[in-house]
Amino acid sequence: MSVKISDFGVLANGTKIQKYTIENSQGTSVSVITYGATLISALVADRNGVFKDVIVGFDDLEGCVERTDYQGVVVGPYANRIGNSEFSIDGIKYKLNSNENGVTCLHSCGEFNTAVWNAELADDSSVEMSYVSPDGVNGFPGRINVSVKYTLTDDNELKLEYSAVSDKKTVINLTNHAYFNLGGFDSGLILDHTMQINADCYTPVDELSIPTGEIASVENTPFDLRTAKRIGDEIDADCEQLKFTGGYDHNFCISGYDGTLKTAAVAFDSVTGRKLEVLTDLPGIQFYAGNFLKGTIGKSGKPMEKRSGFCLETQFYPDTPNHPDFPQCTFEAGEKYHTVTVFKFSAE
Ligand code: BGC
Repeated sequence: MSVKISDFGVLANGTKIQKYTIENSQGTSVSVITYGATLISALVADRNGVFKDVIVGFDDLEGCVERTDYQGVVVGPYANRIGNSEFSIDGIKYKLNSNENGVTCLHSCGEFNTAVWNAELADDSSVEMSYVSPDGVNGFPGRINVSVKYTLTDDNELKLEYSAVSDKKTVINLTNHAYFNLGGFDSGLILDHTMQINADCYTPVDELSIPTGEIASVENTPFDLRTAKRIGDEIDADCEQLKFTGGYDHNFCISGYDGTLKTAAVAFDSVTGRKLEVLTDLPGIQFYAGNFLKGTIGKSGKPMEKRSGFCLETQFYPDTPNHPDFPQCTFEAGEKYHTVTVFKFSAE
């Protein structure tokens, strides 16, 4: 195992950004930069031992700064959407900024993902990124100390360990927004990948992608991914939910949620044999099929076309602060938020 540190570029304000590359004994490597604590690459072998970068995104800082689709970043303090950009805690209403339709707040209007994080080497297989979010950014209460520790194991597991603590009671929901293409970042669309999600239920949304509050069964719907299904098979099915979101872009309720690490999803590319398993101790996972990608130029000067990458964002359900029946993510002042997500790569 080894970690290499290199310069990745300089922001307009003069701040230097570093890249940390962790490599294991199998030759798998992942790179993370201090801007947005962004996962920018993951070199993974296929069934013939051919390594390719399976992360769709940018290879330079300029792209990372100008991005509009949250490629590879850590999102927080609240990943996903909050309806009407408001919620209440103990009778106090918090009005947030909105960055969608003037109504909803998506990915906290982009705070953690545009911050410069401090990086520290934890050991020869881990780098820990940390950031202090000031009280009140975009309307969210609390000064939050947050860290994300990225570890690569010799079993090709990329482990993300999220920790946070606020000085005021607040909502916390952190995720990573990497877009994966198991054929390689430049190998076209992900419609031929299969996806399996261990969820009996999902949270249907309204026209603004805010959960209606219903926990609906996936049975007899395109959301029944309990056995692996080709992503392209039903992504454009005649179904109101898929029309609202332009394809899969929904929160799945992980079956058997009890706060321990469980396999939530498995994606597979039969062409290369690369497989990605996602494990988490969280209750939800957003399967987003990259429907809103629109050809922005990414790595190697190649456009990131619609559906050329998929995200599996482990999370509390979207809009949880406005749904008392969902598993809650409001934390007391001083209370520790700690969750783990594992991206495990293999080939068969
Ligand atoms: C959301 C999509 C959104 C995307 C932005 C995803 O987490 O589910 O609706 O367009 O983030 O990159």
